[in-house]
Amino acid sequence: MIPETWVIQPNRLKKTSEQWVGRGGFGAVWRAVYYEDPRSAPVHVALKELPASATNAGVVHPDICQEIIMWRRLQHPNIVPMLGIDRHIFPLSIASAWMDNGTITQFLENYPNEDRLRLLREVCEGLRFLHMETFAHGDLKSPNILVDSMRHARLCDFGMTTVIHSLNSANASTESHGEKGTTRYLAPELLDPEQYGLQHAHVSLPADIYALGIVIWEVFAGRVPYGRWRGPQVIQQVLAGYRLTRPERARALGLSDDLWGVVVACWHPNWDMRPTAVQVLGAITEEAASTLVSPNLDPRILVSMAEIFRDS
Ligand SMILES: Nc1ncnc2c1ncn2[C@@H]1O[C@H](COP(=O)(O)OP(=O)(O)O)[C@@H](O)[C@H]1O
Ligand SMILES: [Mg+2]
Repeated sequence: MIPETWVIQPNRLKKTSEQWVGRGGFGAVWRAVYYEDPRSAPVHVALKELPASATNAGVVHPDICQEIIMWRRLQHPNIVPMLGIDRHIFPLSIASAWMDNGTITQFLENYPNEDRLRLLREVCEGLRFLHMETFAHGDLKSPNILVDSMRHARLCDFGMTTVIHSLNSANASTESHGEKGTTRYLAPELLDPEQYGLQHAHVSLPADIYALGIVIWEVFAGRVPYGRWRGPQVIQQVLAGYRLTRPERARALGLSDDLWGVVVACWHPNWDMRPTAVQVLGAITEEAASTLVSPNLDPRILVSMAEIFRDS
């Protein structure tokens, strides 16, 4: 059961967009304003409309309740804050804080000189936090990495794949695996579980790491992964062992030999061989420290620089 206190009162939430602002695997996202109390200033929120099948005779599907409860519980500087749910504008929608700088891809298009290692470190911090709770994101991809007004990366829409499966909506699953969706981020064992001795495709921490590798590639390459291929070809090639090639021009942006080695390891066909979020975070942090600090500095200063990067 979703706690009553999380249900936003009707007078506290106003939809401000006539049209949805984005549409993904299921439902649409709308802009709205939220008043925490009647006298407070409005805050901008994103309203994620869940399909009608998310509720049955007004009762929210138990799996969806669980995911909503989880999102609300997971509070971290690199996770999009969830403010509550609405039961009035739509049968069921989730209100999350509006992220002014859009997706990480849009942000980097607008600010190409932004420090990519810093953003990726924040992505890893968010993922590490989820994984510490042994909670798999399940739908890690650049459209689910948003950038707030302070230019920090934040993850959203975790657990939502479970929602899609629970709803078992043919429409949702075809779209989410279609051109706009997640295909390009799916680990081989999710693309063809049988080939990997699995009965079902299910979300997992190592599958998140595979997706993280794709995100890192995308942030450095500034292109759609396997952009020249359509979805079915991506599936076929990845299952045959093909992987993305190194974007050579990204060396100057921080994609060193060491870091590239870690990215490649994220795509290992054997999920046990993939690094953990902590290991990827470590590699990125090290890279950030070494690119910004002159090599003849005292090593003790290097250590404290690494600390500063961690906390900034
Ligand atoms: N909290 C938010 N702040 C700003 N934009 C958002 C927010 N949540 C979602 N969006 C936008 O809405 C779009 C659609 O989201 P969604 O329905 O989850 O589909 P997808 O993640 O597949 O793109 C996102 O790509 C993003 O641009
Ligand atoms: Mg999304």
